[in-house]
Amino acid sequence: MLCLGIESSCDETALAVVRDGVLLDAVLASQADIHALFGGVVPELASREHYRYLGTLFDQLMQRLDLRPSDLDVVAVSRGPGLLGSLLVGVAFAKALALGCGARFLGVNHLHAHLLAARLENELRFPALGLLVSGGHTHIYRMESPSRCIVLGKTLDDAAGEAFDKVGKILGLAYPGGKLMDALARQGRADARLFPRPYLDNDNLDFSFSGIKTGVLNYMNSERQAGREPNPADVAASFQAAVLDVIVAKTVGAAVDMNKDKIVLAGGVASNSRLREMLQTECKKHGIALYYPDPILCTDNAAMIGCAAYYKYKAGGISDLDLDAVPDLPL
Ligand code: KG4
Ligand code: ZN
Repeated sequence: MLCLGIESSCDETALAVVRDGVLLDAVLASQADIHALFGGVVPELASREHYRYLGTLFDQLMQRLDLRPSDLDVVAVSRGPGLLGSLLVGVAFAKALALGCGARFLGVNHLHAHLLAARLENELRFPALGLLVSGGHTHIYRMESPSRCIVLGKTLDDAAGEAFDKVGKILGLAYPGGKLMDALARQGRADARLFPRPYLDNDNLDFSFSGIKTGVLNYMNSERQAGREPNPADVAASFQAAVLDVIVAKTVGAAVDMNKDKIVLAGGVASNSRLREMLQTECKKHGIALYYPDPILCTDNAAMIGCAAYYKYKAGGISDLDLDAVPDLPL
């Protein structure tokens, strides 16, 4: 089954061709440089850029694979959650393409696709515990099968990636700051006393990160008022440690409590080097297998859309052409 995956939910325009769940090739146009000028994603600009690049990227991908549009069996697209305008451009493009080349049309949940990304490279068996950490989400799921994921807990305010980006901004880093914070933190020393670990001891699987971010802001202000300039690398390391201590303890704790022997890591923050190290260490201690995708498959990409579409299609899923984009689509 030859499936074209399309991803345009935020600021990456991406297309990929997946054959029977295996990635053949992918193209991506990132808008990061454009939005960096504004310190965050500007929705109207994002939609326009998707519109500008989708057609060209599609032609490029078909040429590279020596395929014709009529070779495609399924055209799948991310239908939410995400920015409404960006999603609409992708969904309209996918519908027109499916109609024009006689392929089936399939709408995919972006979060579901993130969770299945590890499956592109691993023989992943279910049930497993899923940790999705991205710019918009920090969710723990019970993954019962490739098509059934149940939310066990989530952030009540900022997502982990959002907190990384906001603290990156406080420390003067470019947007998005997550990856830069990861690198900066590696040069610093974490001081566990500086920032709180909210919800660490709660008996649920919810998170809250906005307090840690405010803690960083208050610490910077009070240090400067006292005439001291904090070392940005130490602040980044201390912030990162506070966030990751909570994420790792709750995720591994949930897997142990629920007798799950597999953890699936997904989303942009899943490429954080310290998070991977910490999870690897804790999982090894408890005999849990840890699955995570290559960093390129952690951030928004179209291979994960094609992969999720393959499993959805195999389970009988197909969408009507009146399917809508849904900016707050839950999973
Ligand atoms: O999954 P993603 O590409 O988009 C959403 O669906 O949100 O995640 C993007 C988020 C951004 O907040 C970005 O700063 C963060 O993932 N991120 C990282 C790292 N790489 C990307 N955060 C921490 N460490 C990283 N290495
Ligand atoms: Zn995403």
